[in-house]
Amino acid sequence: MAKIPSNVIDSIREQSNIVDVIGQYVQLKKSGKNYLGLCPFHNEKTPSFSVAEDKQIFHCFGCGKGGNVFRFIEEIEHIPFSEAVLKVADLEQIPIDNALRQINHETGESSSSPAIQLHEKAVQFYHHILVNTEVGQGALDYLHQRGVTEDTIEEFQIGFAPPQRTFLERIFRNESLPAESFLESGLFIEKDDHSLIDRFYQRIMFPIRNSQGKTIAFSGRWFEMDSEDQEDQPKYLNSPETNLFNKREVLFNLDKAKSTIRKEGTIILFEGFMDVIAAWQVGVQNGVASMGTSLTEQQIQQIERLSQKLLFCYDGDNAGQNATFRGIELLREHSRLKLSAMRLPEKLDPDEYIRKYGGDAFVQVLNHQQLTPFLFTMDYLATQFHLENEQEKLAYLEQILKELNYVDSVLEQDSYLTKIAMQFDVQREALVQQFQVFKREQRRKLVQAKNKNSPNGIVPLMPLKQKKTQLQKAEEILLYRMTTDTSYRVKFKQQEGVFPEEQYQELFVLLDTYLDVEESFDYAKFLDFLQEEALKELMIAIGSANHSAEGSDQEFHDLMKQLKIYTYQQKIHQKQHELQQASQVGDGELQVTLAMEIVNLTRRLKNID
Ligand code: UTP
Ligand code: MN
Repeated sequence: MAKIPSNVIDSIREQSNIVDVIGQYVQLKKSGKNYLGLCPFHNEKTPSFSVAEDKQIFHCFGCGKGGNVFRFIEEIEHIPFSEAVLKVADLEQIPIDNALRQINHETGESSSSPAIQLHEKAVQFYHHILVNTEVGQGALDYLHQRGVTEDTIEEFQIGFAPPQRTFLERIFRNESLPAESFLESGLFIEKDDHSLIDRFYQRIMFPIRNSQGKTIAFSGRWFEMDSEDQEDQPKYLNSPETNLFNKREVLFNLDKAKSTIRKEGTIILFEGFMDVIAAWQVGVQNGVASMGTSLTEQQIQQIERLSQKLLFCYDGDNAGQNATFRGIELLREHSRLKLSAMRLPEKLDPDEYIRKYGGDAFVQVLNHQQLTPFLFTMDYLATQFHLENEQEKLAYLEQILKELNYVDSVLEQDSYLTKIAMQFDVQREALVQQFQVFKREQRRKLVQAKNKNSPNGIVPLMPLKQKKTQLQKAEEILLYRMTTDTSYRVKFKQQEGVFPEEQYQELFVLLDTYLDVEESFDYAKFLDFLQEEALKELMIAIGSANHSAEGSDQEFHDLMKQLKIYTYQQKIHQKQHELQQASQVGDGELQVTLAMEIVNLTRRLKNID
């Protein structure tokens, strides 16, 4: 990939805001003048990941990762620097030269990637057929009759793929789109004679967009005008997996829902696209759906970056309730999301519920009838047993007591125990005892599992960072001041100051060079200027530490004194070493000279004020 000119890099960095960019991956809370969140680069329960808006840098006090906005994207997306630069431009919607984007074709994600071009064209085509043509009229009437409005059809760019399977290729060719990408786009099927026919036909088309809002696939719902040409077709057909489209990663509507999810701290998971769309239409705009499969690890990770809470709003039928139960089981083990679930009446799916009872009723139900995972599970398991049979009832009670282990709050546990006792007419005390037994069992299992992971039963801790010496602290404050207060740099040079430790001296030289050409100091920019990893890390540590707001002459003087003391101590140390060697070889003359020098140095050390 070709190099991006440095002025373009600078301009993208200057126009972007690291808080916005990182905010799309990590949930950030304002804390003082910085933002805090859970570090996405290591596992942690209490936030040590900090983003400084004024300096435009991030830093994790736990694992030590840090840098500017480009570095963050490189690390989190595992992409090289130049791609990260373009990605930031994309995320922040900073217009950049198209020629530059062309360079970026390897990512497959830039707006001009051929496969995306084809998809955008196909979206236009299918949408046009649905909205403006005779061929689409039947499907359009059907959507309207289902209550989907014109606005919604526009918003989601819903379309229709006509029964004839020859349109799309002709349109693509007329527009001189790259023919070599047709097949890999997944929009066609290759016949034996290598000619291409449209994959989707006679289907209402839902564009599937990635989290950046680019269409990367379709899902088509079979639609037949009259039941004569009955074909045995699946209700929904998705694009095949391609370079762009990984079913396990995509969440339908995440791009549009993102901002509401972040605002409300909650994401709603639906089973079907139609549910997401129907809910959106009545103002519930934080809904997404997976691609007809259960949630994957990748999807959970994406959700966790945006949201604290997840609400299952699956269909009210058995399949939907089973899926909700499995979802709860999966997520309570594998995520920190706070869960809740809906049970819609009459086996309705959300879209049917909205059509039957209206949007207001749906919003009411959503707001006031959420079940905690335990209450959901309690009701759900009740349907799996014949509770009128005494033996099954006991088995059921045992199982829900086990479930009670997953409830974190003791208060909640207590109130559930009361509820169970009343509902099933058993002694509360007996329940409590049984529950204690399960709790101990559970704890034993946990301990065993832990022991398996680490042989001596010790959970490995992260390597502790070495404590800084007094000298290092002084060096860091000096460097820090130089970034904010010109007088420090000027005086330091006047006094021919030197940092005793090599890394700091190196950093100083680079900082000095940088400040000679730049008018003001910019952390994010300086980090790009520093090439070496170790120096970048050091600079981030310096920028992230808690320094007092302003320096003073006294402070400067004290810091310089520490540097000088250390320098003399080092010199004396060196001479003592040489003296030892001289006495070993019996060089009397050298011994005298060295002894004199040591006395001299010691005197000067004492006189440092
Ligand atoms: P549903 O059959 O519940 O969809 O499938 P729906 O939203 O209620 O559809 P309408 O209301 O009949 O139009 C839920 C999801 O399961 C996947 C799709 O992702 C769908 O959105 N699915 C369903 C398939 O992938 N293939 C199918 O044949 C059916
Ligand atoms: Mn439905």
